[in-house]
Order: sequence, then structure tokens, then C-alpha cells
Amino acid sequence: MKDQDLAPWPQAGFDRRAFLKGSSAAAAATTLATHATQAQAQAAAPEIVGRQSRLVELKVNGKTASVRVEPRSTLLDVLRYQLQLTGAKPVSIDGSSGASTVIVDGKPIAANTTLALDCVGKSIQTVESLGGEKPDAVVSAFVHADAMQCGFCTPGFVVAVRAFLDKNPGATEEQIRSGLNGNLCRCGTYANVVMAALEVVKGGSRG
Ligand code: FES
Repeated sequence: MKDQDLAPWPQAGFDRRAFLKGSSAAAAATTLATHATQAQAQAAAPEIVGRQSRLVELKVNGKTASVRVEPRSTLLDVLRYQLQLTGAKPVSIDGSSGASTVIVDGKPIAANTTLALDCVGKSIQTVESLGGEKPDAVVSAFVHADAMQCGFCTPGFVVAVRAFLDKNPGATEEQIRSGLNGNLCRCGTYANVVMAALEVVKGGSRG
């Protein structure tokens, strides 16, 4: 083995000043890159909403309503306790009963598992919009087919049928049964609900 092989580091030709300069530049570049990455991550991240309530506007049944909501407020809470639209019901925590069904931007959703803030800028339709002096055909068909007993599940079913038939106006009985499988009725009036939906498909009970 030669002597130069055993030479201690730094070896001949090593410039300590240049090394330190290079290290500083690399550290500065790393810091800049880290800041840039953090800035990009912040820009891409969703807005963080604090715990405090805020005033927002919701479009419900064609009208704009100002409501004060907390980030945790569900759409169901706002509909029932601020707008007094009590048709949608709080039955199941996870929305599996379908009793809180409302239509948001054309889709049936469980209002008790949907945050009110997520509905800002969207069109919300509740069962109340289907009633009145000239009720929707689905409401009339429910009455005609006697599709309720205690009636607690009925608003959710009416909205679910309306949403389903809007998308499937010529649905068969089998499709209706499948399309309504997100709604439960403890009284067991399923047969009459399906009968009511079929009546609407056939053009009956027009409001
Ligand atoms: S009519 Fe009673 S739960 Fe459906």
C-alpha cells in the first residue's frame, strides 16, 4: 500500500473555503425548496374552517335563505331548526334509514350525514317543495295508494321516489324496488310505496 492511500481526509487539493461555500448554498437551496413546497401545499389544501359559526346562504326550495352554521352543522339540523322545514327526519345517525332524504343538485342524499357548509351554492329540495295546493304526482300517488301507516318514513320515501323517477321515468317494479333500497319503513308499507311509484310511472296521480 502506498503512502497517499493512507493520507488523512481532507486530501491534497481540497479547498475548505469552497466546500463551506458550497454547503451554505446547498442549505439555502434546500430551505427555499422546502418553503416553496410548503407554499404549494398550503395553496392546494382546502380552506381550514374554524369552530366559530358563520353566516351563509343556502338555496332551499328555490329560495335563498341566510343561516348561521357551525362547521359541524348538518344540513338536517339547519333545515329543521333554523328553516322550520321538518319533513326530513332524524331517524338514524348514519343515514341508513333514508328518513332524512333531500335532493341536492338533483341527487338524493341523507341530510343528517351532510354538512350544511358543503351545500352552499347548491340547489336543495326538500319534501315541502312537493306539497302545497297542487302537490307533486308522487305525493298524490302515495295518498291514492295508501302508502303509509305511521308516516314517519314517508317524507324520505316521497323524496327518494321523486329523485329516482326523475332519473328513471319509465322504471319497472324491479328497478323501483332496487332504487329505493336506501329507505326503510318499520311499518312495512313497501308494497304500497312501490304501487305508488308505479302509478306515477304510468302517468297517474298527476298533481
Ligand atoms: S309508515 Fe311507519 S315507518 Fe314507514
